[in-house]
Amino acid sequence: MTEKTYRIDIEGGAAVRARPGDTLLEVAAEAGLEVSADCGGAGTCGKCRARAGGLLEPPSDAERKLLSAREIESGVRLACQARISGDAGAVFEGNAVSSEITDFCMEYEPPDSGRGHAPDSERGFGLAIDIGTTTLNARLVDLETGRAAASAASANPQRIYGADVASRLSFAVSGGLGALRSGLRRRVSRMVEWLAERGGVEAGAAKRSIVVGNPTMLSVFFGYDPSGIGAAPFTPPFTGTAAALARELGIPAAEGAVAETLPVVAGYVGADAVSAALRAGLHRPGGPRLMIDLGTNAEMVLAAGGEIWACAAAAGPAFEGAHISCGSTAREGADTVMLSEDGTLAVGTIGGAAPEGLCGTGLIDALAVLLDSGALAASGRLTAPEDGPIADRLSGGDLGSQPEFHIVRPGEMGARRPVSITQQDIREAQLAKGAILAGAETLMAAAGVDAASLEAVYLAGALGYSLNSKSAIRIGLLPGARPEIVKFIGNAALDGAADALVSAKAREDARLLGDSIRYFELSSAPGFADRFAAAMAFPANLH
Ligand code: FES
Repeated sequence: MTEKTYRIDIEGGAAVRARPGDTLLEVAAEAGLEVSADCGGAGTCGKCRARAGGLLEPPSDAERKLLSAREIESGVRLACQARISGDAGAVFEGNAVSSEITDFCMEYEPPDSGRGHAPDSERGFGLAIDIGTTTLNARLVDLETGRAAASAASANPQRIYGADVASRLSFAVSGGLGALRSGLRRRVSRMVEWLAERGGVEAGAAKRSIVVGNPTMLSVFFGYDPSGIGAAPFTPPFTGTAAALARELGIPAAEGAVAETLPVVAGYVGADAVSAALRAGLHRPGGPRLMIDLGTNAEMVLAAGGEIWACAAAAGPAFEGAHISCGSTAREGADTVMLSEDGTLAVGTIGGAAPEGLCGTGLIDALAVLLDSGALAASGRLTAPEDGPIADRLSGGDLGSQPEFHIVRPGEMGARRPVSITQQDIREAQLAKGAILAGAETLMAAAGVDAASLEAVYLAGALGYSLNSKSAIRIGLLPGARPEIVKFIGNAALDGAADALVSAKAREDARLLGDSIRYFELSSAPGFADRFAAAMAFPANLH
């Protein structure tokens, strides 16, 4: 007997059919929408809210706890809890991510002999793929010239199972590994088809692929069980490199073409960190240099005194827009960046579109402006200044409501809804910046490096392209705070993968780099907890 299915309409996605008992969260994924689900569907974060209609099972205890009676009455549900019992529909407001694939328009400089990684001049095309916890990036590369024929970005579809690596791992351990893997492989496959069309080549013609990412993402993608990474001693299923036939991973590629990773060093220092360090040139001799890859997990690689050290700090996804009330990834036309001009606000958006959310760069700028205006104390407490141009943008703080700073009000710059930063958002940002700063300081102390002796601080990650270095220094994100040594190197993990794709010398340098990195475990390092507590504070207002 065929099982009964129902028609479900999800706004912004395709109409789909669902079985009784399916959750709205699962149905939204089927319809091509990824919904914020920071707790991985446990019913504790409240991020998966939707306005639903039609036939659904009654609200669960978790929904009754997180939603007010009025919200429940007006049809608000938690998508991870709301189960289908008949035809239904739902609208997600600002908490769903489309499965759209977009141009990844960051500048890319092909490898050259200046960096010692000139292309080997092999004919044909290859793929560089970076599997980030939040975002996937891929590039179709001409193997002969090293030039990018097309570049693509898309949300990591696993985001509906949690915002960070820890929640993905717990979902994998509780039986979700197959869902994590198949969703990821399907999305990468679609991205490669998209790239081939854009680049004017036949999908399935790629001769080689280099895939980077953190050890959990790579393990899931390559078919390993990552559960050992979830608990001490955080052992990854493989170190060094892994390889497989590209087609077996769902990558459209030439018959027999291989997909391989760059080296994985430890449970939380993966091929993405090695790749970014390669691109930053940390394998070459020089003075003390620090590279920070600002992702959900911030990997840091320090080259000093002929040695290379690495650690990873659980920064959380605040600087990627997750766990932030109006948070957004840095996507074209959607994000708010905020700068201070004469004490007033100057708000800009990526692509100049109406403001919709706050990306990591915008969040850091916002914090810097609030600190300068006196509205934000070094402790992280938000208080309304009595006067001044931004005083009327602060609200709340009375009994039962948290203080909130309104960067954009509805109607301003064509915004449909407010873009605000709350006290809770500031706490999330403090945790992220505290983890990064304390991690860097602890690593430098272990390596005997003084911040004043740093010759360069390389910032990698999607956020690293547009980040205002003054704002980053103002909020105390970086050690050795001198603007002249801060260099943004963009998505260096993807760029390093592209270098390794076209140059055997780059692959060899990556292998040597992976072998020579000394992994440093932060969680058990003496002094880390104290540094972390101190690093959560913002530098005092100097004015
Ligand atoms: S409440 Fe967290 S995903 Fe639904």
